[in-house]
Amino acid sequence: MGEISPPADGGRRRHAGTRRLLIAGALGVLGTVTALSTSLPAGAAAGTLGAAAAQSGRYFGTAIAAGHLNDSTYVATWDREFNSVTAENEMKWGPIEPSRNSFNWGSADQIVNHAVSKGMKVRGHTLVWHAQLPSWINTNMSASDLRSAMTNHITQVMNHYKGKVYAWDVVNEAFADGGSVGSLRSSIFTQKLGNGFIEEAFRAARAADPNVKLCYNDYNIDDANANKTRGVYNMVKDFKARGVPIDCVGLQSHFGNPPSNYQQNIAQFAALGVDVQITELDVGGSGSTQADAYRRVTQACTAVPRCTGITVWGITDKWSWRSGDTPLLFDGNFNKKQAYTAVLDALNAATPNTSPSPTTSPSPNTSPSPRTSPSVTPSPVTGACSATIETTNSWPGGFQSTVTVRAGSSAVNGWTVKWTWPGGQTISSLWSGEQSVSGSSVTVRNAPYNGSIAAGSSTTFGFTANGSAATPSVTCTSP
Ligand code: G3I
Repeated sequence: MGEISPPADGGRRRHAGTRRLLIAGALGVLGTVTALSTSLPAGAAAGTLGAAAAQSGRYFGTAIAAGHLNDSTYVATWDREFNSVTAENEMKWGPIEPSRNSFNWGSADQIVNHAVSKGMKVRGHTLVWHAQLPSWINTNMSASDLRSAMTNHITQVMNHYKGKVYAWDVVNEAFADGGSVGSLRSSIFTQKLGNGFIEEAFRAARAADPNVKLCYNDYNIDDANANKTRGVYNMVKDFKARGVPIDCVGLQSHFGNPPSNYQQNIAQFAALGVDVQITELDVGGSGSTQADAYRRVTQACTAVPRCTGITVWGITDKWSWRSGDTPLLFDGNFNKKQAYTAVLDALNAATPNTSPSPTTSPSPNTSPSPRTSPSVTPSPVTGACSATIETTNSWPGGFQSTVTVRAGSSAVNGWTVKWTWPGGQTISSLWSGEQSVSGSSVTVRNAPYNGSIAAGSSTTFGFTANGSAATPSVTCTSP
């Protein structure tokens, strides 16, 4: 492994005046920026991508391939310039679980351990993807066998990297290209498990690790108005409304030019209450055209507070998966390209991020255990709505439930669900609703965003509780 090189100044000091003002202003309000005073001389612009991104509370990462770690220039450039990493292939299902329930951690560990030792963030890529699957995942499997293989894979891999990985690409590239809004790519997952496999994967991921960011990652979702983008947008909106855990959307951003509405696209995802990360950026081209495209991408991200970081898909053009397009920031000899300077300048010009992204989405379940058979107790219709409660997971001393609230023949505007615990159960965490508890009586009212339900439609809320799993009778009323 290479040593950390001193940051190259790269001539950035021409921005010194601007930086002094920005940093001075930021120091008063932002703890994250305070740390900079120890790593940067007063008034200096950062001379590396990672340090420049950190000034606005973001990271700047790269994909790394374990097979190149014996190249000292590669490792030195990684260490010097980047403060986040994604394993290019080593964490994918095929490489990491080549035989069922037998894991090959070696190459991925090499990358992760190096990153952790340097204080870098790690993005986990990827848990459920139709490509690079091991051969033992095949169409001979039954749906329940595939489901249990998927849950086990997610659980084992996330457990192994718990505390080291910052965000996981839980599901990668599930949406179809060129289809209607919302159409998914046909894969073994859609064929065996139906479109709900995405939700199942996110729920399994949250059960495996309540403290990591869970991301949906895809390409060609950069244009705010494209059908594929709209499909992903609708899914995220639906997940947030129903309490399905999701924390971030990854825009891979393999392109020749960012679409003109790229920043608007980032902002529209962020407005749903998720982080946005640019996860696999590479821009084909050269010279000032390529540099301009990179600048626009960087500016689009830094303009949106919840765009929390950028990852480029490799360091040097010579080892890019699309090397013919020379799409990266360093040429084949690890020289900085014009695009590098454009990105560095744009990062240095960013104003500090005043909206640090919140913690992970709800539905914590710290005791992963096999799913129990769901039991459902319907309630009588007492007003314009009805509700059902379902046990979706249980473990010794606790359980997780989902409550579905359904409107009758007319729309509902606000709802209240009530029940009484039969055996001293207590809710430990509830999401997508507002609870009040009096002894064994529980009242849950809609959250601000899910009170309106169209006629015949439904919404859900969920909770984890202590005690024995129970499905009491629930009532639903609407004002
Ligand atoms: O490691 C084997 C080697 O042992 C073997 O001799 C050789 C023969 O072809 O293959 C090597 O594996 C290759 C692997 O990269 C490592 O170099 C695979 O064939 C090759 O398919 C694989 O390509 C990767 C590709 O994903 C797979 O779809 C690229 O490196 C990787 O950059 C690319 O990354 C994807 C993201 O995961 C998801 N988004 C798109 C992105 C670009 O395609």
